[in-house]
Amino acid sequence: MTQQHDADQRPALITGGAGFVGTNLAQRLLEMGRPVLLFDNLSRAGVENNLRRLRAAYAGDRRLQVLIGDVRDETALANAVRQAGAVFHFAAQVAVTTSLVSPRDDFAVNALGTLNLLEALRALPEPPPLVFTSTNKVYGDLADVPLRLTDNRYEPSNEILGARGVGETRALDFHSPYGCSKGAADQYVLDYARTFNLPAVVFRMSCIYGPHQCGNEDQGWVAHFLLRALENKPITLYGDGRQVRDTLFVDDLLDAFLVAEKHVSRLSGHAFNIGGGPDNTTSLLELVERIGDLTGERPRVTFDDWRPGDQRYYVSDTRKFTAATGWTPRVDVSEGVARLHDWLRQLKAEETAPFAEVKVMGRAMRRVAAAAQRA
Ligand SMILES: NC(=O)c1ccc[n+]([C@@H]2O[C@H](COP(=O)([O-])OP(=O)(O)OC[C@H]3O[C@@H](n4cnc5c(N)ncnc54)[C@H](O)[C@@H]3O)[C@@H](O)[C@H]2O)c1
Repeated sequence: MTQQHDADQRPALITGGAGFVGTNLAQRLLEMGRPVLLFDNLSRAGVENNLRRLRAAYAGDRRLQVLIGDVRDETALANAVRQAGAVFHFAAQVAVTTSLVSPRDDFAVNALGTLNLLEALRALPEPPPLVFTSTNKVYGDLADVPLRLTDNRYEPSNEILGARGVGETRALDFHSPYGCSKGAADQYVLDYARTFNLPAVVFRMSCIYGPHQCGNEDQGWVAHFLLRALENKPITLYGDGRQVRDTLFVDDLLDAFLVAEKHVSRLSGHAFNIGGGPDNTTSLLELVERIGDLTGERPRVTFDDWRPGDQRYYVSDTRKFTAATGWTPRVDVSEGVARLHDWLRQLKAEETAPFAEVKVMGRAMRRVAAAAQRA
C-alpha cells in the first residue's frame, strides 16, 4: 500500500463538523467515498439536527465517525488530529455579538483552540494539510473606504474597488473580540506554515450561505432572513439595511476547499479572500426584496442601531485564489437563495413529520449531495 493510499484511507478531520459548513463538507467528502471524522461540541443551537440528518443519511456507513469534543480540550483534539489525513478547521465561536458579551470564551475557542490544533499538528512527523476558515472581519470596518449611497445599497466611490472588491493586500485591522480572536488564529496558522513548515491555507471568508445553516440574528443572515420570512415574522435590520456583502453558495466553497487541499504544497502559507465576489453582491434590503419575490409577500422589516464593527461595504476580491487554482463561483445569488429557500421549506415540512420522513429527508440529502458532486 502506498503512502498516498494510506493517507486517503485516513479520515478528513472536520472540526466544527456538525455546523453549517462542516456538515456540507462532510456530505461532499462522503459522497466522494472519503471517510470523515467530525469533531464538534454541539454548542451551536440547532447543529444537533445537522448531525441527526447526517447520521440518518449515512446510517451504518463506517466512513462517518463523530467525536463530541471541544477544541479547548488539547488531549481530545490531539487524539483526533493523529488519525487525520487532512484537517478542515471550522470549529469556532462564530458571532461578533456573542464575542462582545464574553470575550474570554471567544478567545479560548477561536484563538487558543486553533493554537491547540496547530500544536497537535506540529507534533506529527508528517502533518496533513490544514485548511482554516478565517473571516473578512480581519480587515476591520473599512470606515476609510469612500462610499456613495444609492437607493438600496452602498457602493465604493472608487470604480476599481467596485469592480474587484477587497484584496488580501488590505491592511489587517481587527475589530471586535471576534475579529481579534479569528485574526489571531489566522496569523498563527500562517506563521505555523512559515515557521514550522505546516502545509496550511487560510480562507478569509465573506458571507457563506446554504442548506444546513442554523442562521440566527447573530450569524448566518441569509438563512435567518429566509427563516423569518417563512415563519411570517418581521426581520430586524441593524443599521439602514443598505450594507453590501458578497455572498457565496456553500457548494462553491466546498469546491474551493478541495482545490486548496489538492494544491496545498503550492498554496501553503497563503491567505485568500473567498466569497462570491463583485458578481454576487446583495444589500440587506435587496435580499428582503428578493425573498419577497420568492415567497410572494415582502417580509416585514424593523430597524435598529448599527452594530459594532459592521462594514457598510465588503466584497471579496477573489482573483488571487482564481489565479492560483482556476476556481470561480458557479452558483449566482438568485439561484443560491432560491435553492436555500426550497431547502428550508422542505425542512419546515420535516419538522412536523414523523421519524419515517426524517429517513426520507436523509435519502433526499444524499441525492442532492450526489447531484452537486456530479455538477
Ligand atoms: N458562515 C459564514 O458566513 C462564515 C463567514 C466567515 C467565516 N466563517 C467561519 O467558518 C467556520 C464555520 O462557520 P459555520 O457558518 O459553519 O458556523 P457554525 O456555527 O454552523 O459551525 C461551527 C461549529 O463549531 C462548533 N463549535 C463551536 N465551539 C466549539 C468548540 N469549542 N469545540 C468544538 N466545536 C465547537 C459548533 O457547535 C458548530 O457546529 C467558522 O470558523 C466561522 O468563523 C463562516
